[in-house]
Amino acid sequence: MKYGYFDDRNREYVITQPDTPLPWMNYLGCQAYFGIISNTAGGYSFYRDARLRRISRYRYNQVPFDVGGRYIYLRDDDSTEFWSPSWQPTQSDILEYTCRHGMGYTTIGSSYKGIEAYTRYFVPLDENLEIWQLSVTNHRSTRATLKGFASIEFCLWDAQDDATNFQRNFNTGQVEVEDGVIYHKTEYRERRNHFAYFGCSAPSRFDTQRETFLGRYRGWDRPKSVEAGELTNSIAYGWSPIGAHQVNIELDPQETAQFVFVLGYHENPVDKKFDPPGSQIVNKRTVKPVIAKYLSPAGADAAFEKLRQYWETTLGILQVQTPDAHTNRMVNIWNAYQCMATFNMSRSASFYESGIGRGLGFRDSNQDLLGFVHMVPSRARERILDLAATQLPTGGAYHQYQPLTKRGNNDIGGGFNDDPHWLIVGVSAYLKETGDWSILDEPVQYDNEPGSEEPLYEHLQRSFNYTLERLGPHGLPLIGRADWNDCLNLNCFSDTPGQSFQTTTNKDGKVAESVFIAGLFVYAGRELAAIAERRGLEAEATKYIGETEKMLAVINQHGWDGDWFLRAYDDFGAKIGSKECEEGRVFIESNGFCALAGIGLDDGKALKAMNAMRKHLATPHGIVVQQPAYSRYYLQLGEISSYPPGYKENAGIFCHVNPWVMIGETRLGRGDAAFDYYTRINPSAREEISDLHRCEPYVYAQMIAGKDAPTFGEAKNSWLTGTAAWNYYAITQWILGIRTSLSGLEIAPVIPQKWSGFTAKRVFRGVTYSIAVQRKGPGNSIALTVDGEPVAGNVIPIPTDGRKDVKVTGILS
Ligand code: GLC
Ligand code: GLC
Repeated sequence: MKYGYFDDRNREYVITQPDTPLPWMNYLGCQAYFGIISNTAGGYSFYRDARLRRISRYRYNQVPFDVGGRYIYLRDDDSTEFWSPSWQPTQSDILEYTCRHGMGYTTIGSSYKGIEAYTRYFVPLDENLEIWQLSVTNHRSTRATLKGFASIEFCLWDAQDDATNFQRNFNTGQVEVEDGVIYHKTEYRERRNHFAYFGCSAPSRFDTQRETFLGRYRGWDRPKSVEAGELTNSIAYGWSPIGAHQVNIELDPQETAQFVFVLGYHENPVDKKFDPPGSQIVNKRTVKPVIAKYLSPAGADAAFEKLRQYWETTLGILQVQTPDAHTNRMVNIWNAYQCMATFNMSRSASFYESGIGRGLGFRDSNQDLLGFVHMVPSRARERILDLAATQLPTGGAYHQYQPLTKRGNNDIGGGFNDDPHWLIVGVSAYLKETGDWSILDEPVQYDNEPGSEEPLYEHLQRSFNYTLERLGPHGLPLIGRADWNDCLNLNCFSDTPGQSFQTTTNKDGKVAESVFIAGLFVYAGRELAAIAERRGLEAEATKYIGETEKMLAVINQHGWDGDWFLRAYDDFGAKIGSKECEEGRVFIESNGFCALAGIGLDDGKALKAMNAMRKHLATPHGIVVQQPAYSRYYLQLGEISSYPPGYKENAGIFCHVNPWVMIGETRLGRGDAAFDYYTRINPSAREEISDLHRCEPYVYAQMIAGKDAPTFGEAKNSWLTGTAAWNYYAITQWILGIRTSLSGLEIAPVIPQKWSGFTAKRVFRGVTYSIAVQRKGPGNSIALTVDGEPVAGNVIPIPTDGRKDVKVTGILS
């Protein structure tokens, strides 16, 4: 069953039933001010950092789901009835409910007894605020007298503290109301220089104390003031400051009125905090013009148009037309859009990530660049430099950093031995996209220590050497706390309830090794060698290649199990992911990644490994992590065996790693297999089974329950997952084969047999390429012409004559 439909022309997913299996979310904002919003207006906002600068409250894991939001109420003064056009929180019997999640905006509304109301929520470009545009139309034959209410509950900035430290926080809340704008200024009088505000285009009355607005023992579903039809102008002293506005609406039949609400964040210079100086009153001089600008419907409409243009241009960098509608929709719209969200959020704030626990992950953010770098290369550059500055002098890295401070997060620490290599992968993706070699010369600190600056290129060398200095008994890389699989904790040996598998290390292990890291090392080493070679550093390139060759020999000798690649050796030197194992006999990560890296292409290992994936791990809903699932807890394996069989890392379909197998298949020239795997987890292709899948049909989820799970096929943890970047990378660069390389744009498609071809438009280093690929034979060899001239090989030469539009044709035979 479906809960809506794709409107591809408008780049929207239209939800037509409010009680979706789970709240279906969208993101507002793509620069510094962000929000999440559900299809029934649930969600919250923050500035840069979902933990440290939380603007509004949301109650995670609440009953019912999805409580706290940008709630609007209408009240009919004649009947005294009130309702929320977004269905939540009043859950009234509305008609024509529609939620349109679009690129950076969401519109939600419905009709109720002849009154139609829609609210468009979005964050304008280059501003730290969000706009709610409410339009109300009277379809009755008589005049309607209504009240409208818009409400938001402020968070006292630090989301963790806000949810725990009540003895203090019930006392600190402070607001000001001036010219109809509500200013939330908790802690402004002391060490904060920022405040939030909530303005309204037609202010009449307001409330700022939650209890006054809601009434005692009431929830957001029936606020007392809304029921009464009049707000009370309450001022919050402590407890829970909110912003609630009342607008008075008089509509003739068929008349429409529009109201604008603006919720925003503002910082003042420390010496200009108060106005007049010496008072305790917030200085509003610089914020007032901003508020006024967007409270006008014309200002709001202009900002919306700018946002629409921004996405038109950003998505326009790569557009494809293939014979498959699901592919087109995901590549052209939703997958690219999701890559923007994962770039911005890493794994910090979603319906499943509370915004408190996790900042920007080192390995995650580097991988996210694969799907993002072409959209805004300048921001990718900045991200790379920020990430590299959290690298430790050892070459290791903090596993995460806090977006606001850009500092490595000590609570989580480091020691995930795959981390450093992802920096090489990220930098390489950036170089391939932009050809901007200057980034390698940027001085970057280690551990954010002033004075420790070295060129970024040195950081990459330390990443590489990090592994060489940490080899185990077989010559494979030591795993440390874990590798890509956070839950393969081979040095943890945790028997204490509640201990974090990721941060507790009981052993400075010198035995447990990872075949996955070995594959990653070979991959990253080759990338680094290519970079060195292009810089004219022949000797270094030779050294890197030498080391990767050595590692290859080790993989062949100790990392191969006969029919597939092993996964690891545990602390006792016992194999993981081997036919000798009772459970966890075959794993996806080492096999997928080795094949992706081209390991075993020449001697049949990659072919065998990919066949093993099909035979042992592939299911109709995607490829599971391993088989057989761990049926009990193994002290020596850690968190992986803590999950019930079929969930998460314990034999769940971890969508992030499925593309590694897709790419592996393309390296074997098997386009049908690659595309088949792509389609199995493509959310759009799963739309029809929304009741089973349950997550949004327009974005990938981290995990789909595996075949061992009673809920096989059910997705969880949507939006923030490396799945976004990797699937985008697999379909665009490997299946469609529009691939960036250090020497330019390559065209090397490995598409399904039955496809007659495809066309694409790709803007690359300032040139627009119109690409048409046609299948004339069953194979993958391609004959290219560029502006009518045949070209040898796969790389389109970068025009030297200033041409900005280039036509490329490719004949597959
Ligand atoms: C989560 C983490 C990611 C990790 C994966 C597998 O998605 O964010 O870093 O690689 O889980 O454990
Ligand atoms: C849990 C999850 C894993 C995630 C990790 C992050 O272990 O299973 O997916 O990466 O937490 O801390």
